[in-house]
Amino acid sequence: MDNFIYQNQTKIVFGKDTENMVGSLIAPTYKKVLLHYGGGSIKKSGLYDRVIASLEKSGVDYIELSGVAPNPRLSLVNEGIALCRENDVDFILAVGGGSVIDSAKAIAIGVLYDGDVWDFFIGKKKAEDSLPFGSIVTIPAAGSENSVSCVVTNDDINIKKGMVSTRAEFAILNPELTYTLPPYQSAAGAIDILAHVMERYFTPTPDVGFTDRLCEATMKTIIDNAPIIMENPEDYNARAQIMWASTIAHNGLLNTGRLGDWASHHIQHAMGGMVDMAHGAGLAVVFPAWMQYVYKHDIARFKQFAMRVWDMDAAFGSDEDIVLEGIRRYKAFAQSLGLPTTLKELGISEEWIPKMAKICGRDGKFVVLEVSDIIEIYKLALV
Ligand code: NZQ
Ligand code: ZN
Repeated sequence: MDNFIYQNQTKIVFGKDTENMVGSLIAPTYKKVLLHYGGGSIKKSGLYDRVIASLEKSGVDYIELSGVAPNPRLSLVNEGIALCRENDVDFILAVGGGSVIDSAKAIAIGVLYDGDVWDFFIGKKKAEDSLPFGSIVTIPAAGSENSVSCVVTNDDINIKKGMVSTRAEFAILNPELTYTLPPYQSAAGAIDILAHVMERYFTPTPDVGFTDRLCEATMKTIIDNAPIIMENPEDYNARAQIMWASTIAHNGLLNTGRLGDWASHHIQHAMGGMVDMAHGAGLAVVFPAWMQYVYKHDIARFKQFAMRVWDMDAAFGSDEDIVLEGIRRYKAFAQSLGLPTTLKELGISEEWIPKMAKICGRDGKFVVLEVSDIIEIYKLALV
């Protein structure tokens, strides 16, 4: 186990009706809020009205910027930065999923920087400061509400990139807000949560038994509860288990003392820059191909994954048989949720593979992948 420092200042406010507390979480410290949201789901569900009522009740002044697209665009981030500066905004409230929260994070960081906010995404600049921000989460998936990452698509060049950002001041998690999710989004969210754990589970760091067990509990929670919400979208308990697991999966706790891999995420981000897709749907395609390509590197870890997470029995066959059946069970799980398993289904064309692999570059910590390896992984995922 490696040395680590873990600091996480985000206040988590969890449970029914908690969105009504948003005004009192912001006032009296902050005076002027940018309310940031997506394409309108929050208006349809009535959440928007409750948020406005809470802000007004607490005497918080606000302006709005809506229209964040899944795979948030840099152009809207730049609009948000200008708006915050013109209106002396001192707090950003994101109401939505990972896309809205990431857009809010990029705005929060960009407002305090004189240069081009894209500099943070291409590694020219490190994010050390930002306007304070918080969120009301409407989809458990990206975990952005408590993570230190922020992923944005530069719509001038169709490249999607992540950066290490700052953490939110608070996150409001009401599982009831997720009842209105389309099944495909719930499914993609479940796979993204699993992926956040798997990126950490497949580690080169030895002696990480405790965090292995935390990871396994988190993955099991998703595997047990995702089918329940597909059947009954208003099952509060299943929604609640998934929502809390989603935050824990990506808030850094599970990778304390260990290195994560992250190649699969970057392989998916390169796809998301080319074609709009649900991030989790892309991961459902990438992860089995990645596992297939790298499992020989550490058969024991993949066997542990198959046995503890996918309930494989040691009597099933050889270690390799167990590993391959574990990968098959992961794939079958994603399929059972209605997600794609090939690049073709996602509209990714074979000719784009070299370009996407180049965008990723050398990647991965569990196994270091060269661009040529990433090309092979894309090929495995093709059909
Ligand atoms: O825009 P609206 O109308 O709100 O609709 C959204 C959107 O179309 C809809 N939705 C969200 N909550 C809803 C709802 N519809 C009905 N009822 C609700 N309660 O769902 C669609 C997807 O929303 P989005 O925010 O894109 O989903 P998600 O949370 O999966 O975020 C994906 C983005 O997060 C990035 C991904 O790359 C992608 O851009 N990620 C961010 C991470 C981070 N910052 O830590 C880590 C992740 O690995 C990921 O890369
Ligand atoms: Zn993800």
